[in-house]
Amino acid sequence: MPREIVTVQLGQCGNQMGSVYWQRLCAEHGINKEGILEEWATEGGDRKDVFFYQADDEHYIPRAILVDLEPRVINNILTSPFANLYNPENIFVSQDGGGAGNNWAQGYSAGERIYEEVMEMVDREAEGSDSLEGFMLMHSIAGGTGSGVGSFLLERLNDKFPKKLIQTYSVFPNAQEGDVVVQPYNAMLTLKRLVNHADSVVVLDNGALSRISADRLHVSTPTFDQTNQLVSISRRSSLLLYRQSSSPLHSGRDVMAASTQTLRYPGYMNNDLVGIIASLIPTPRCHFLMTSYTPFTSDQIDKAKVIRRTTVLDVMRRLLQPKNRMVSTTPSKTACYISILNIIQGDVDPTDVHQSLLRIRERQLANFIPWGPASIQVALTRKSPYVTTNHRVSGLMLANHTSIASLFKRMIDQFDRLKKRNAFLEQYKKEKMFENGLGEFDDAKATAEELLKEYKACESADYITYVSRLPHDLNPVRANNSSRSRCFHPQGS
Ligand code: GTP
Repeated sequence: MPREIVTVQLGQCGNQMGSVYWQRLCAEHGINKEGILEEWATEGGDRKDVFFYQADDEHYIPRAILVDLEPRVINNILTSPFANLYNPENIFVSQDGGGAGNNWAQGYSAGERIYEEVMEMVDREAEGSDSLEGFMLMHSIAGGTGSGVGSFLLERLNDKFPKKLIQTYSVFPNAQEGDVVVQPYNAMLTLKRLVNHADSVVVLDNGALSRISADRLHVSTPTFDQTNQLVSISRRSSLLLYRQSSSPLHSGRDVMAASTQTLRYPGYMNNDLVGIIASLIPTPRCHFLMTSYTPFTSDQIDKAKVIRRTTVLDVMRRLLQPKNRMVSTTPSKTACYISILNIIQGDVDPTDVHQSLLRIRERQLANFIPWGPASIQVALTRKSPYVTTNHRVSGLMLANHTSIASLFKRMIDQFDRLKKRNAFLEQYKKEKMFENGLGEFDDAKATAEELLKEYKACESADYITYVSRLPHDLNPVRANNSSRSRCFHPQGS
């Protein structure tokens, strides 16, 4: 029985990422842009039904809900060659069409208004599943819709489906030069919901994505299009398909596709989301995951660095290099891994994996927390037979690393700088959430500070003591379901 996952994509960023993600899934499963299985796609053995269902006429339809408060991006999708892929009943574009003006509060209020309609779509998808495993939410936390509507939906999904997993792919803003002036407010308010209402957050940091692009392409300010080429990489057959899309920064797509690979091409482990989350997240609040992906190369860009050797050891070493992480963090001597899952694809002999793990351990390439198992978990997964690559082996690392706290510290500092000046608060005060004061801002910041402390505590051997002293609602062992504590005991869900 499939463990279905329903995807909810929100706002410009969420829908653009979602759009290329579905194109990629179609290419990997031999589904054409109309949703029809290609005649040559006869290999089988994959699990399309986790992410697609079949309509009465055998069309494959993504289990996806597309939501935006302004029509531009969804219109682009609906005039693209993939227009007929989606279920039109699962598309919500707000009638007034003005977006959320990059304002979390406006987005949150809109979330309340559109809730019934969007939840009807969610319910329909949930009821149409045999054994729904959970939800994947794609959004940015810097604008208004992805952050505000996203926050509202996270709260409600959590209430309504307390036993279903919620994983988000959240694009964090570029730390250096945010393109949204109030992004520190929006990001902080969303972070609180990501802490309290998601089981797992895959952090995609626009700053790091630009850095990786610049490093690989030797271009100091890479354009979105160059970044797209960099990340659409090594898959000649699918390159043209993706290049038709004009959306920026598609790095999330490769990460998302690779991170769901084991669900779509099941082996003997990590075949469902709970298996992946349970192995990576031993303690419920520290559920922010970093990713690395290798090899990044491009057939299209002359200056792009070419990685010639792709042995398992090589791939695993590269995955551990901080420069390949898709999150920019500040180095620290005490920072360490809480857990690592490497999803390795390609022509791999399990003995190579074993030997690579021994070499990595001998050379102490990865520091782990002192209170848990210090091991890299490896999932070997089949590649799509329909998408050719130039590399023998490729890999995605999903890692829970305490240095992610430096990202939250940066967010708190940026938030404080803006809030100290009481800058741009008028627009927020107009919305219901802030009618009676700005306490929600303080509350969100307090949540971020608690999280920071907990990641810091993870680095010490007496973390368990730290946890046992936490107030009741923050304590992963004693807390009730409101903090999604069941992650600690995934079998109980
Ligand atoms: P409103 O525009 O206020 O209605 O909200 P929204 O959620 O639609 O805003 P958007 O998704 O544009 O969020 C703004 C942030 O997302 C900025 O930091 C952008 O750089 C980033 N962003 C927008 N589109 C993309 C994208 O396709 N990929 C990536 N990686 N980032 C994006």
